[in-house]
Amino acid sequence: MCGIVGYTGADTAKSILTDGLKRLEYRGYDSAGVALERMGDAGSCELDVVRRTGKVAGLESELVARDDASTCGIGHTRWATHGRPTQANAHPHVSCDHRIAVVHNGIIENFAELRVELEERGHRFASETDTEVFAHLIEEAYAREHDLMAAVRAACTRVVGAYGIAVVCADEPGVIAVARKDSPIVVGRGERGSYVASDVIALIDATRDVVVLEDGQFARLSPDGIEYTDAEGACIEPEVTHIDWDIDTAEKGGYPDFMLKEIYEQPRVVRDTLVGRLSPSGELDIDELGLSFEELDLIDRVYVIACGTSYHAGLIAKNLIEGWARIPCEVEAASEFRYRNPIITPSTLVVAVSQSGETADTLAAIRDARIKGAKVFGITNVVGSPVARESDGVIYTKANKEIAVASTKSFIGQVVSLTLLAMLLGQVKGRLTTRQVRMLFHELGDTAAQIQWILDTQVEAVHKAALACRDAHSALFVGRGMGAAISCEGALKLKEVSYLHAEAYAAGEMKHGPIALIDPGFPVIAVTTRSPTYDKVVSNLKECEARGAMIVAIATAGDEDIRAIADHVIYIPPVRDAFSAITATVPLQLLARDVAVLRGCDVDQPRNLAKSVTVE
Ligand code: M6R
Repeated sequence: MCGIVGYTGADTAKSILTDGLKRLEYRGYDSAGVALERMGDAGSCELDVVRRTGKVAGLESELVARDDASTCGIGHTRWATHGRPTQANAHPHVSCDHRIAVVHNGIIENFAELRVELEERGHRFASETDTEVFAHLIEEAYAREHDLMAAVRAACTRVVGAYGIAVVCADEPGVIAVARKDSPIVVGRGERGSYVASDVIALIDATRDVVVLEDGQFARLSPDGIEYTDAEGACIEPEVTHIDWDIDTAEKGGYPDFMLKEIYEQPRVVRDTLVGRLSPSGELDIDELGLSFEELDLIDRVYVIACGTSYHAGLIAKNLIEGWARIPCEVEAASEFRYRNPIITPSTLVVAVSQSGETADTLAAIRDARIKGAKVFGITNVVGSPVARESDGVIYTKANKEIAVASTKSFIGQVVSLTLLAMLLGQVKGRLTTRQVRMLFHELGDTAAQIQWILDTQVEAVHKAALACRDAHSALFVGRGMGAAISCEGALKLKEVSYLHAEAYAAGEMKHGPIALIDPGFPVIAVTTRSPTYDKVVSNLKECEARGAMIVAIATAGDEDIRAIADHVIYIPPVRDAFSAITATVPLQLLARDVAVLRGCDVDQPRNLAKSVTVE
């Protein structure tokens, strides 16, 4: 959460910073700010700090009046943790003497003690944030060390928590000091200068060769180059990562919003996630597995741990892992799992699912699980992310960068990846033959074309259903089995982008309480695909219809009977129940987005949310 950028070089810093911040807005968008180095009247360097509440566009307008002279600066876009989203709490934060400015992504857990201690020594605080202690700690250390990197290293020894920081100091013009612990930082050198950001997306125009800083590493950026050091100040040579995805990912490419663009990318995500996963002899090939087949054969319990949409991918995986491998599988919110005492043995497999690979609760849960002896397998979209690094094995979801805050294509990548894992466990446990695996694999691949069919033929039907839902106050999503899991994701999507209250319920549970909510016109969105429980779901819908519900059915193409009870029908192609989540989720994503657009919501950046949740 929060995005940081920094640039020092030969070009105008302010436009590089605002362009970078706009690309990082998915990480937070309640306020934004920059600190630019400028020559003061007396010929010495000064820091020009500009901060605004709201999105980066507001900051950019404010900066129009500034000249282009500054060639070094840092910037920040915020998702508030400590302190309200006010101008005073916006970053950068500055030292008392206004000579040092800091941008920070993360949380300083001991900031309250540090603040008291610093105030006792005479420091004056201008914000309610945890970050500001960094500015004052660095100021004190700089007075002793007279060296920015040494001062930043010293400050880092005092703080407890997570941080990715970039720091400028008016007494060392052109230098940006960078440090990282548990919050992402990437650094890169372009032809025209040196760059730092929370995510490569902000610096990919300048370079495709970046260093993903590790915990405890520091970088000193100057117009001439970048030096990397460890916590003791010794020089290190970090690994360089080449970014091979295209900048088109960061552009809307003719779509009105990223969410729609990303929904339309889903056929490609299925295909890319499956590329190279089946050997010519028909064996599943997961080269980053990190666990031998012997180790997998010993697995007798699986926990899938994740948050939000990734948690819903876990609900789908439970059906597959238990169905194909007959291994008991529990799905838990990472934020709950880590605070209880789950039964973990060396034969427990913990599968951590995270688009960003940096969700704080998921990371803490896998660290805990490893300490307790579990094998950990990661499913993530971000190469080299903490989840990938801290897992024994990993499957990358190949969704490419996902920019809309509401996850869509990464969910499809997660479900496809979890399906592969479930098939592999089934094969290793001797419950699926090579022939069955090959057949399932090809059917899984067919879902790419099935999604395309939905996108090509069902948009109008979705739009009519969206018009019918637009003015509702609440909606219920129902289904059974896979349909129940899919409903959870449908309800979350609608809530987060349209601010319409939505709840998912197992259809058979409706009569035990939620049916009391239904009055004439109440929207019930039902997953009624052809499945072993189809007739049961239809019975449950009849109960809703009898009470006046407005029913939207996600049904299998060719099912005309469903029209007798549904007000709106959106079709998906016939598909094996095991794979229905991959297709049936797509109309629900489209529906949520359509309702949000009709209600005038910002679908890509819903209020109060951020893409990467790096706080607990
Ligand atoms: O990056 P992660 O997959 O770990 O993120 C988990 C959730 O924060 C995320 O899925 C969130 O629920 C999305 N906004 C859902 O659209």
